[in-house]
Amino acid sequence: MSAVPQPASRTKKITAPYLREMKAKGEKIVMLTAYDASFAAQCENGGVDVVLVGDSLGMVVQGHRSTLSVTLDETVYHCAAVARGLNYALLLADLPFMTFRDVDTALRTSARLVAEGGAAMVKVEGAGYVLEVIRALEQHEIPVCAHLGLTPQSVHKFGGFRVQGRDEAAAERLVRDAHAVQDAGASMLVLECVPAALAKRISAELTIPTIGIGAGVDCDGQVLVIYDMLGISPGKRVRFSRDFLVGTGSVRGAIEAYAQAVRSGAFPTLEHSF
Ligand code: KIV
Repeated sequence: MSAVPQPASRTKKITAPYLREMKAKGEKIVMLTAYDASFAAQCENGGVDVVLVGDSLGMVVQGHRSTLSVTLDETVYHCAAVARGLNYALLLADLPFMTFRDVDTALRTSARLVAEGGAAMVKVEGAGYVLEVIRALEQHEIPVCAHLGLTPQSVHKFGGFRVQGRDEAAAERLVRDAHAVQDAGASMLVLECVPAALAKRISAELTIPTIGIGAGVDCDGQVLVIYDMLGISPGKRVRFSRDFLVGTGSVRGAIEAYAQAVRSGAFPTLEHSF
């Protein structure tokens, strides 16, 4: 019998409360991005728990240099396509740049992603004024995934795609923000490009699941951009990703290998962490 943990049962839909149960039971959550029905189906059949229609769409599908130009209409379109490829995995949709700048806008934006796009959860970047948005969405029955650390919509403010939370003050700020998004009602938290030790501390302190990307192995789950983990994104390989197509030979095989590696704790290694 294999010692590697097996994927969550595929006879039941994955829901926000179920993801919290997974954390409580110590079961790793496997997340990948997808932008169409075919890749979404491959993700689900390969054992992925959460499929994210990320605004990475702007970079890996549309060829832009940042995520900032992705529109709500485009996200709804791709979300609806992904929804048609899924039966059990939870569909998470990114709120594009400036579509959650105030509570009213965020509610209208999210309602479209849920009603037209089929999303079961929406993702927002940052804390600060975003806390009020998280509170309002949760009060209107829309589960929210927060996103802290390297938030790509802040690329101009950060001066590039840089690891966050490296010095003590920045690390403490990140810990405070993580608690604040949880207290505001977030159901999950993506931690992107933060030191592994900091992500470990945040994951231990929070009751909601943390999903890491470039945040070390001790998060409650992992996410990658699917084109990065298939090694087909243009440009240099990002440090925190691995080409799972190598040695597996098919998209389905690569996704299965990724899911197994996340569940067994074999990915990410120190080589993929900061
Ligand atoms: O847009 C995206 O794909 C994301 C993930 C990298 C977390 O936000």
